[in-house]
Amino acid sequence: MRSSEISSGRSISTSLGTVVLLAALTTPRATFAIDQVAAQDLAQSSGCFKCHAVEKKKDGPALRDAAAKYKDDPQAEEKLIFHVTSGEKVKFDDGHEEEHKKVKTRNPNETRNLVQWILALQGGTKR
Ligand code: HEC
Repeated sequence: MRSSEISSGRSISTSLGTVVLLAALTTPRATFAIDQVAAQDLAQSSGCFKCHAVEKKKDGPALRDAAAKYKDDPQAEEKLIFHVTSGEKVKFDDGHEEEHKKVKTRNPNETRNLVQWILALQGGTKR
């Protein structure tokens, strides 16, 4: 009797642990704690939407296509943070190059939130 109580107790805690672990592993990247409104406000005030839209290509790629491009890249977040803070050179369709626009904030959390919002966009296709 006693030993079966112990073993059943143990198996409950093991399966609970498995559930928690599975939940952590299967939660898609950055679907929680993204402030969408703040992200879009920052994109707006930084002028990103002059060259980008979520759905369609303008001078820059559709943001959801950028999300698709980085879907399997574990460094996506760091790369895009660099992309929107460093002023690195980007190439336009007509061939000219210029420094990519920087986000208009010094708060790294706001920048990260914007990048996480972009990366969580669905429905894009890789270029
Ligand atoms: C003057 C036009 C312009 C503005 C303004 C602009 N971008 Fe871009 N952006 C581009 C172009 C052009 C590319 C394509 C670069 C390439 O493919 O080499 C690009 C690429 C990107 C990418 C994809 C990067 C990649 O590696 O594929 C993201 C994400 C992005 N921009 C976000 C932003 C954000 C956020 C802002 C606002 C802070 C912004 N852009 C403002 C022109 C612009």
